[in-house]
Amino acid sequence: STTRRYEFNVEWKKVTRLCHKKPLLTVNGEYPGPTIAVHEGDDVEVKVTNKIAKNTTIHWHGLRQYRTGWADGPAYITQCPIRGGQSYTYKFTVKDQKGTLLWHAHHSWQRASVHGAFIIYPRLPYPFSSVQIQAEIPIIFGEWWNADVDAVENEIIKYGSGPNVSDAYTINGLPGPLYPCSTKDTFVQRVERGKTYMLRIINAALNDELFFAIDKHALTVVEIDATYTKPFKTPSIMIAPGQTTTVLLTADQLPDSTGMFVMAARPYLTSVFPFNNSTTTGYLSYTGIKIDKLKPPTNPFNLQLYNLPQMEDTAFDTKFSANLRSLASARYPCKVPKTTDKRVIVAISLNLQDCPANQTCKGYMGKRFFASMNNQSFIRPSKSILESYYHNHTEGVYSSDFPEKPSKAFNYTGVDPVTENMNTNFGTKILVLPYGTNIEFVLQGTSFLNTENHPIHVHGHNFFIVGRGFGNFNAAKDPAKYNLVDPPERNTVAVPTGGWAAIRIKADNPGVWFIHCHLEEHTTWGLAMAFIVKDGPGPSQSLLPPPADLPLC
Ligand code: C2O
Repeated sequence: STTRRYEFNVEWKKVTRLCHKKPLLTVNGEYPGPTIAVHEGDDVEVKVTNKIAKNTTIHWHGLRQYRTGWADGPAYITQCPIRGGQSYTYKFTVKDQKGTLLWHAHHSWQRASVHGAFIIYPRLPYPFSSVQIQAEIPIIFGEWWNADVDAVENEIIKYGSGPNVSDAYTINGLPGPLYPCSTKDTFVQRVERGKTYMLRIINAALNDELFFAIDKHALTVVEIDATYTKPFKTPSIMIAPGQTTTVLLTADQLPDSTGMFVMAARPYLTSVFPFNNSTTTGYLSYTGIKIDKLKPPTNPFNLQLYNLPQMEDTAFDTKFSANLRSLASARYPCKVPKTTDKRVIVAISLNLQDCPANQTCKGYMGKRFFASMNNQSFIRPSKSILESYYHNHTEGVYSSDFPEKPSKAFNYTGVDPVTENMNTNFGTKILVLPYGTNIEFVLQGTSFLNTENHPIHVHGHNFFIVGRGFGNFNAAKDPAKYNLVDPPERNTVAVPTGGWAAIRIKADNPGVWFIHCHLEEHTTWGLAMAFIVKDGPGPSQSLLPPPADLPLC
C-alpha cells in the first residue's frame, strides 16, 4: 500500500475578515487548512509540529482508527497535547472507508480555524458512476470570530455563560456580501452549463447546524459521513457540525445576464432563543457568460429565493433526516446490528447551576450553564485516558461507572431548568464494553433550554441511526418501528430538539473513544462521555502499543 505523508505546522497567521485583522490559528498559514486527499487502503502519516505557545492536537474526524486510537487526537482522551515546539506524527491506515470527512484541532476551541477536508477516493468506481463528474469541490462551512476564541471559551468556563455568537458564517473561509465589509471575500464557484459537479460539503462551524441551498438548483445527496446513501434530490440540505454531505449538482439552469446564482447557508434554531439569524452567501457562476460586478442579492432575506428553509423549520429537518438511507446494495451491504447485547439510555441535558458564593455567573437568571449525559457532566482529566487504561493506571484519571440509564425519570417537556438534573456529578465516568458488543444508545434530549439539535459524535466507530422521534423514547413501542434494513450510517447524529435518536454500534475497535456534542459550547459545558472497548481474543483484535513519539503530559 501507499503511504501518504503530510506536514502540518500549527502556526499563527494574520488574517482579515469583516475588516477586522487578527492573528488566526492555522495549519501552514491556510484558512481553511490544507485538504488531505488519499485513496482507500492508504497509510497516512501527518507530522504535526506545534509552532505556538499553547497546546494543540489534531483529530481525523470520522476516520475509524482501527487499533490506532493513539492517532485519534482528542486532547486528554487518547493523547496528551502536543506542546509548543514539539511534533507528533499521526499514523493510521484508511481501511474500508471512502468519501468526504474532515480533520480539525481537538483542543479547546481551536477547531474554529484549524480544520480542513479529508477526502478518500474509493477503490471501486462511484456507485453513481453513470454520472460524469466534471470536478469535485470541497465546500467547508465555518464561523469567523472577531474575538479570540480562547477568550470566548475562557469566559464560558469562568462565568458559565453562553450562548456565544460568532461574527459571521463562512463558505470556504469567506463570509460573503451580506456581511459588512465582505463583498470581496465571497466564494465563487465557476461551473459550465450542462456539466455535473460533486460538492463535498463539510460543516466545520463551531456551534450551529446549517441549512444550505443553491438558488434554483437541486442537490442530489449521494453520501453522508463517508458512507453511500440511496441518492435523493432535495432543494436544500441540513448539516450539523461534524457532519459531511456529498451532493451532485448539475448546472442545468438558464442564467440571466449576470450568470450568477446565489448559494447560501444559515443556521437551524428553534424559536426559544433565536440568537442568530445571519446568512453566508457565495455564488455559482456559469462560465461563458459576461459577469457584472459582484453585487449583493437585492432581497437577501427572501427565504424562497434560495430554496432555504426557515430558521425554525423543524419539519424540513425531520423530512430530510428521514430521506437519508444507506445504499444497502449487494456491493455495499448495510451492516446494521440486527440484535443488540445492551441498550444504554443517555439523557442529554443542558442545565443551570446556582452561582457559587463569591462568583459572578452570566448564564441565565444569574446562574451557570452546564451540560450532562445521564447527570454526569464530563470533566476532561489532566492525563490521557487511553494511556492510563493501557498502563492500568486508572487512579485519579477516570472511573468505570458511567450509568446505563438516567438517574431519575425525565420528561422533555416543560422541565424546570433550575431543578432538572440536580445531583449532577462532575467527573470522568467511562462505560466499559467487551470487544464486539452490539450496543444501542438511545440519545434522549430532555431540557427545554435546548434550542437546536444536539449533533452527537462518536469516535472510533460508525453507527446506524435506527430510529429518531419526538417526545420521550418509548421502549415498549418505538423499537418495533426501527429501520433495520437501510438505516443511515454516520459518525455524527443530530438528536432532535425535544426528541430522541437510537443508534447502533458494533463496538469492535479496541481503545478509548470520546462521545460528545459537536457544538463546541456544549462540549465545554460537559456534554460528553467516553467508552472503552476491551481487546478481543483474536490476534488482530487488540489495541496496538503507543508510538514512541506520543506526547507526554
Ligand atoms: Cu469532530 Cu471529537 O470531534
